[in-house]
Amino acid sequence: MKTARSALLFIGVLILVSTTTAWVRTSAARNILRVFGSGNNDTPSAPRTDKERSEDFLKEGTWDGIIPMAATVAALSSFKEPGRAVDPEDIRPHSDDERDDFSKGYALPAEAYTELGGMRSCRILNGMWQVSGAHGYTPEKGKVVAEMTRCADAGFQTFDLADIYGPAEGYVGDFTQGPRSSPVAKDCRFYTKWVTGNSPREVVDRKVATAAISRSLRLMNADRLDLLQFHWWDYSNKQYYNAMSELMHLQQDDRIRNIGLCNFDTKHLIELIEQDAPIVSNQVSFSILDDRPLTHMVPECTKRGVQLLCYGTLLGGFLTNRWLGKPQPQPDTLTNVSLRKYLPWIRVWGGWDKFQTLLRELDSIGKKHGGVSIANVATRWVLQHDAVGGVILGVRFGFSEHNRDNAKVFSFRLDEEDLARIDAVRSTNGGGGGGSSLLSVYGDCGGEYRRR
Ligand SMILES: NC(=O)c1ccc[n+]([C@@H]2O[C@H](COP(=O)([O-])OP(=O)(O)OC[C@H]3O[C@@H](n4cnc5c(N)ncnc54)[C@H](OP(=O)(O)O)[C@@H]3O)[C@@H](O)[C@H]2O)c1
Repeated sequence: MKTARSALLFIGVLILVSTTTAWVRTSAARNILRVFGSGNNDTPSAPRTDKERSEDFLKEGTWDGIIPMAATVAALSSFKEPGRAVDPEDIRPHSDDERDDFSKGYALPAEAYTELGGMRSCRILNGMWQVSGAHGYTPEKGKVVAEMTRCADAGFQTFDLADIYGPAEGYVGDFTQGPRSSPVAKDCRFYTKWVTGNSPREVVDRKVATAAISRSLRLMNADRLDLLQFHWWDYSNKQYYNAMSELMHLQQDDRIRNIGLCNFDTKHLIELIEQDAPIVSNQVSFSILDDRPLTHMVPECTKRGVQLLCYGTLLGGFLTNRWLGKPQPQPDTLTNVSLRKYLPWIRVWGGWDKFQTLLRELDSIGKKHGGVSIANVATRWVLQHDAVGGVILGVRFGFSEHNRDNAKVFSFRLDEEDLARIDAVRSTNGGGGGGSSLLSVYGDCGGEYRRR
């Protein structure tokens, strides 16, 4: 009897010891021990920083709730051909399978077009932010659609828009189908954006991504988006990986022809490309004053075959003959949101006097090339850089237009002497030295959208 009691006591102690050990192993217990002290000399490990978690994620795909890109690539490749080894090439859109007709003649010379993901893309794109209602006039649907036809007839058959540009996607829908539709619309390409919410806790899953893309498709009266440019606000929230995975699924479902980025900096663009995201383009600000892309973006995009679609090239209209010899405006007199956006950049770059020196120099270079405009020279300067697929020039559709003038961009080239004259102004010290001053204030491309 005594032996049996001792055996029972021994088993009881064993169970107690093993249960306690298991409990101590749980994270809940570890947290409790961290708060009250573990009773031994182990130093509790410090919580891991976002940077460390991010590095782990890239190595092992271990960030909570985030789909590793490798898993997406594997899922999409095996979906195409079950049982076959994973090959990132399988998930790339094959532009040769479906290529726009490049032999067809348009109003502009051949060099005005480039190939972007199999699409015939005009190197001057019509920017549609200007129809959002914040650019000093109220757009009217009939006039906008008529003007879109005029632009396409003049050879400018590529449009840049976004889900957040007010009625822009709806205007494209009216232009392509229905009573106001235009016969030239079938030759046009429309590049829209998905600008996600700006909350630090933004979560993206299939439902969220599909709803965003379906909305654009419905408004634009389209079965498939030509180019979806993805904008993300906060790189410390890794949900942009989930967004990219969902876009890749939507691409396989033929709802999106090509995927691009919008305002991504070089580091995060490389990160996504090295994880096999099939990125064809990045939309960034690029002008004689904002030369941030030259530091990292242009060399990396050149190496990786990504094309830059550039905005801000005319600083909302400041880099034109209209402002030559004019005094600096007061910000509150400007009714056009683009001009309000870029006026502070002129100050950062070196101020109004230095800007006027630049306008005079560009005017003189334009005269040397047969009287082309300041806008032409400023556009040409961006277009002549490597990796630049196009410059997006804002159009106040139904209010002002510059088709005839902008067509002259393809009538000349800036030579070494012109480039040296422009560089001489950029590098003078009028309070800033070239776009490098914007780099130091905002950081790499898109940094101005990420300063909290
Ligand atoms: N992803 C982004 O964060 C982002 C940000 C901004 C813009 N964008 C895109 O880029 C587009 C361009 O917008 P932006 O604000 O940068 O404006 P912008 O293209 O620098 O300036 C547009 C203005 O320049 C004037 N202009 C155009 N051609 C001209 C010419 N040949 N001669 C004289 N003036 C001329 C027009 O002014 P008038 O109408 O006064 O004649 C036009 O409204 C937007 O529509 C949008 O698609 C994207």
